[in-house]
Amino acid sequence: MSADNDSREQWGTRLGFILAAIGSAVGLGNIWRFPYMTAESGGASFVIVYLFLLFLIGIPVMIAEFVIGRNAKLSPVKALSSSGVADWKPIGILFVFTGFLILSYYSVVAGWTLQYMVDSAGGVVTNYSPDVYFAAISQGQRSVFFHLFFMLITAGIVLSGVKRGIEKSVKFLIPTLVFLLMGLAVWAYFRPGAAAGYEFYLSPRTDLLFSENYNFLDINLLANAAGQTFFTLSLGMGAMITYSSYLSSNDDLVEETLIISLSNVSIAFLAGLIVFPIISAYNIFPLEAGQLPESTVSTLFQAIPQAFKSIGGFWGSFFSFVFFGCLFLAALTSAISLLEVVTSSLIDEFNLSRKLSVTISSVSIFLLGVPAALNTGWLGMADKIANNILLLSGGFFITIYAGWVMKEAAVELKKGLSIPVAQLWLGLIRYFIPIIMLSVLLLSFWEFSYEMLQEALPANA
Ligand code: TRP
Repeated sequence: MSADNDSREQWGTRLGFILAAIGSAVGLGNIWRFPYMTAESGGASFVIVYLFLLFLIGIPVMIAEFVIGRNAKLSPVKALSSSGVADWKPIGILFVFTGFLILSYYSVVAGWTLQYMVDSAGGVVTNYSPDVYFAAISQGQRSVFFHLFFMLITAGIVLSGVKRGIEKSVKFLIPTLVFLLMGLAVWAYFRPGAAAGYEFYLSPRTDLLFSENYNFLDINLLANAAGQTFFTLSLGMGAMITYSSYLSSNDDLVEETLIISLSNVSIAFLAGLIVFPIISAYNIFPLEAGQLPESTVSTLFQAIPQAFKSIGGFWGSFFSFVFFGCLFLAALTSAISLLEVVTSSLIDEFNLSRKLSVTISSVSIFLLGVPAALNTGWLGMADKIANNILLLSGGFFITIYAGWVMKEAAVELKKGLSIPVAQLWLGLIRYFIPIIMLSVLLLSFWEFSYEMLQEALPANA
């Protein structure tokens, strides 16, 4: 154990920890996945359910991961086993598997951002219509190549030192990203035809409350919103347990959770304020129930370049380069946290050296991601399974552990706490959250099996 602890780094300051957690949370989930899920799940109705779940479930579960990590000061797998109650190893395996699967396609999408960067520098991106360019680079050899390239960079960083790299890049990255996103949002606001985009994004269709396609109570919408909550906050697979295992006991975990999750959701919200007005202004696809294109994985990559193409010339390419550069870096700080959980668990479990563990994990993650790099349909499917089933299951077990197995959870939370919410939190994590999560999970399974059945059955039978 001790050798392993030596090889893992520690956050020197409170700010270091907060920045690292923000670095993990802010990533493709905010800027690529959030608009794509919103487009797919019915616009403003989805946004409302998502915000609701974020506050009611996301924040308490993040606190739970922090409480577990700080209390045990061990990697996720060992932390859950430290109570001595029952064998939590299968949950550790679930975490590692989830990390493998998420990073395998995350790296493919991050590879796209790299391609946009390189090709913006070459002036290529703004020369083509965004859908033509996206179709050319998103599936096939070049996509595999950049997926490999991204995995190599991630592995290199996890091998050679995480802390300074993350702290430094996040400090400059988040402000730049926010600044650019704000600029783009203002630009998008002035496009003729933007109004319909805001309408879709911000005003819930109460008339469609119980209709077939947009429905607050729609299972798909509910599962997507829950999955997105976990994905965007990096919850459900032990990443935040790992990051908080180096905290000191005088940190205010609730305050930190609020800072991290509010920064995170603001960035996602801002991305939507760009993507939806552009989609409607440029008719990228109709924002109407039942008319969405088959794969909305491309939503961001079609909408944003449209803005840069309209600006055109040197500045169009310049802004495009900077934007995708920031997105790439945001993806990198998240990918690092995913790979860190996977490798540190392998080190703990099999006593591997860090080098060997990073090598084995990165090679297998690369291979697992190849199908996603060849086919965006596969990518969407892996994304759905990872989020709507695996992260939700992981999150469920985390709440059970914090609420019922760990005896000292509330006591741990009270250390350093400035607002007296420990009992409220414990109540939520014990009763309310597990029940909601189990219901969403069961519904999600049901929805999933129903989808597979529909695919298997002949049409119009
Ligand atoms: N939260 C990151 C994003 O939004 C992705 C991520 C990083 C993640 N670490 C994670 C998701 C752990 C789930 C679990 O892009």
